Amino acid sequence: MDNRIEDAFKELIFTLQMAKLYGSDHVKFDASVDKAYAQLENTLDNRNELIIGIVGEELAFEKEIFFELSNAIKPIIIYLKARGIEKITFFSGLQREELKKFIVFLAGPKEAVIREPQEYMDSLGVKNIRVGKIGFSKDPQSKKPDLSVETAKAIEQLSLYDNSLKDSTQAIADVLGDKEVDYDKLKNSLGNVTDGLLLHYSDLLKLATVKRYDINTFVHSLNVCILSMYFSYKLGFCKEDVLQIGIASIFHDIGKLYISRNILTKPSRLTDEEFVKIKSHAPLGAEILLKYTDKLGLLPVVIAFEHHLRYNMSGYPKLDIPYRQHEASMIVSICDVYDALSQRRSYKNDYPPNMIYDIMINDRGSVFEPALLDRFFKAMGVWPIGTIVRLSDNRVAIVREENENEIFLPKVEVLDLEGADRLLLDLSTVRDSVKIGRYLNPLNEGKDYLKFV
Ligand SMILES: [Fe+2]
Ligand SMILES: [Fe+2]
Repeated sequence: MDNRIEDAFKELIFTLQMAKLYGSDHVKFDASVDKAYAQLENTLDNRNELIIGIVGEELAFEKEIFFELSNAIKPIIIYLKARGIEKITFFSGLQREELKKFIVFLAGPKEAVIREPQEYMDSLGVKNIRVGKIGFSKDPQSKKPDLSVETAKAIEQLSLYDNSLKDSTQAIADVLGDKEVDYDKLKNSLGNVTDGLLLHYSDLLKLATVKRYDINTFVHSLNVCILSMYFSYKLGFCKEDVLQIGIASIFHDIGKLYISRNILTKPSRLTDEEFVKIKSHAPLGAEILLKYTDKLGLLPVVIAFEHHLRYNMSGYPKLDIPYRQHEASMIVSICDVYDALSQRRSYKNDYPPNMIYDIMINDRGSVFEPALLDRFFKAMGVWPIGTIVRLSDNRVAIVREENENEIFLPKVEVLDLEGADRLLLDLSTVRDSVKIGRYLNPLNEGKDYLKFV
């Protein structure tokens, strides 16, 4: 990612805040316009134009979506959208006065602008900034397409994911609030995900990977849902069953929402008493979901109750009778642990995918049903699609496709930083000469390559 673009946008937002706070006559506002202008000029130095788009509630630049920045500036995004602005283009002849007029226009009350934003900008004599809605066709003023087809595709997937997240969050909130669950809406929303899975499962998994960095129960629930649906689809379940497993898996941790956050997020060792509380989320969740069997069926109850039982029954809740986990619970258990381990990736505590594989394989036959775990890694590979890696010959590559029978040797796209030299390489065909060396964390070492994912 070109950090200058992100910095330029940060300066613009700061200037807008200054204008709102101090007014456009204030010296502090003028100083911030100077800074933002200098930053933009610097960014436009080697390009004719700079296009920034707002898609859904995310900020996008060409093929990239700035997830981290978007979260921090959500109010600004909503503010711009309320003014009919989804896209801002800065051209290389940009003058300082034009930028100032633009910011003053943005800072003003939206009711004051009765015309289309672009018309208003024209009337102010601003020629080197264009604003408007996003279209995926060519802008007559621009030599480039608005946003790339890939971005459009990613956005479509992203909104699918966001809608499912919204609907599943609502469904969880309804159960917690003792309200009716809108089963049809939830089913429809996840139905879109299953359709998406069959068509673009790799895009959705990539999104699940990116979104993993927002750590909360809802995102975890949706990640587990997507993984469980993908896995059961790969196992050959029919669409209706895939959907049932997906719906049920969304609620697997619902009991956790009744446990204090302080315990759930406690960084130090849990006391025995606290651990008992954590363990209670399984039967508690089942008890809550029992009230919804008419709408949701029994599977959510079963999965909530059984998802920590383990294959050898050494998990919880403790049962005194001979018992065996339902196959759907075994599927969700695997996806649950996989997502939880993936979420531990952070600057300090890096869990590369091959380490997650080692940890889970170590529990093959004890925690996890062995054949099912093998099938899971056949479907996911050791290095999931979208993973950034350094090859043994020092080149950087992105995993593009799994080889089901060679889980360590996927098909990768080898690239350089400019993206000029992109080459597809099936590692199973070059096994003795090139292999995956190590994982590059997209939050630090792999940051510059994230745009190619
Ligand atoms: Fe759980
Ligand atoms: Fe979980």
